[in-house]
Amino acid sequence: MSKLLALVSLALIAQHASAVAVWGQCGGRDYTGSKVCDAGSQCVVVNEWYHQCQPGTGGTTPTSGPTSNPPTPTGTGSLDARFKNKGKKFWGSCADSNTLNIAANAAVLKSDFGQVTPENSMKWDALESSRGNFNFAGADTLVNWAVSNGKLIRGHTLVWHSQLPGWVSSINDRNTLTSVIQNHISTVAGRYAGKLYVERDYRNGNRRTNTKIYVKWDVVNEIFEENGSLRSSVFSNVLGESFVTLAFQAARAADGTAKLYINDYNLDSNNAKVQGLVALVKRVNSGTRLIDGIGTQMHLEANGAGGAQAALTALAAAPVSEVAITELDIKGASANDYTTVTKACLAVSACVGITSWGVSDVNSWRSGNTPLLFDNNYKPKAAYTAVIAALA
Ligand SMILES: *[C@@H]1O[C@H](CO)[C@@H](O)[C@H](O)[C@H]1NC(C)=O
Repeated sequence: MSKLLALVSLALIAQHASAVAVWGQCGGRDYTGSKVCDAGSQCVVVNEWYHQCQPGTGGTTPTSGPTSNPPTPTGTGSLDARFKNKGKKFWGSCADSNTLNIAANAAVLKSDFGQVTPENSMKWDALESSRGNFNFAGADTLVNWAVSNGKLIRGHTLVWHSQLPGWVSSINDRNTLTSVIQNHISTVAGRYAGKLYVERDYRNGNRRTNTKIYVKWDVVNEIFEENGSLRSSVFSNVLGESFVTLAFQAARAADGTAKLYINDYNLDSNNAKVQGLVALVKRVNSGTRLIDGIGTQMHLEANGAGGAQAALTALAAAPVSEVAITELDIKGASANDYTTVTKACLAVSACVGITSWGVSDVNSWRSGNTPLLFDNNYKPKAAYTAVIAALA
């Protein structure tokens, strides 16, 4: 169905080159494109920065810029802007070509999310499926989209035991694995180093263009067992714990300004895994600070948010400058669970942002759990409304 819709949209665009397809942007401050929506849709003021062609009558009469009494949004507001207004740096989402190509999804990303994480395109199997042969097509698509839409980027992920090609997992000598890790990280992190991302600060209603620009990298991902010991993987089996320092040194060398993260799941209360992670960060950072931040994925079960604030507090007590919620989704997406997580990040000053693991339930890796803020039709759910209220 989506392919057919895309073809229809393309046909309409071809016929009316200056009209914006449904769900596309049709106005807002700094917007310079067409303000005319395709027939059958109308331009709605979602917020000051973003007007969207939404299905409805009218067709071609756009509103003209922000008004003091904008129409009640039928679609989305601006989650990211409200979170920034509370002093945070972003509320983001994962994305990649497959979801960026869905107009309704891209429109919500633009209006509500300030940061993107590649869902799959920067994983090792996607980037270097055979030794030394890099394919950046998918990753570049995501990065270019982010840059042209003014979104921050969390690079994800440089060293992970999963989605790892067989040629890496079969390496069994230290020297080969060391140089393979170093080459992968220097090539990938080096490619995106020094890119200019504009960070907009909406606090107190001011729009400041900050000159401090960065990308964040999940340098190592999911390296712990539940009891806090190091997970068995080709990396730990061949190199022991030293692969962590090795990876962070390579990432620092490749991109001197990136914020370098260690990222994991089930860090959802102050549990053994949290404590094992914090202990490792202390060891690695005992000399030079290599690890800047800790990411907690937060793929939660229903009623699973109660330990979030304690976990963030414990993680923030490690010798790092920031922590973040990096892959948030919650089974059932209750308003209560979502507001609990939101308030947990607000309450911990080191918590710089939240990344949802997708926009709409329909594209979620756990879609059967309906865990996201937007329903199958890209419409905000009760949890979204509750989070917006919590950020009022
Ligand atoms: C931690 O868990 C792993 C995986 O279950 C196990 O192999 C290891 O022995 C455990 N370590 C300790 C110290 O209990």
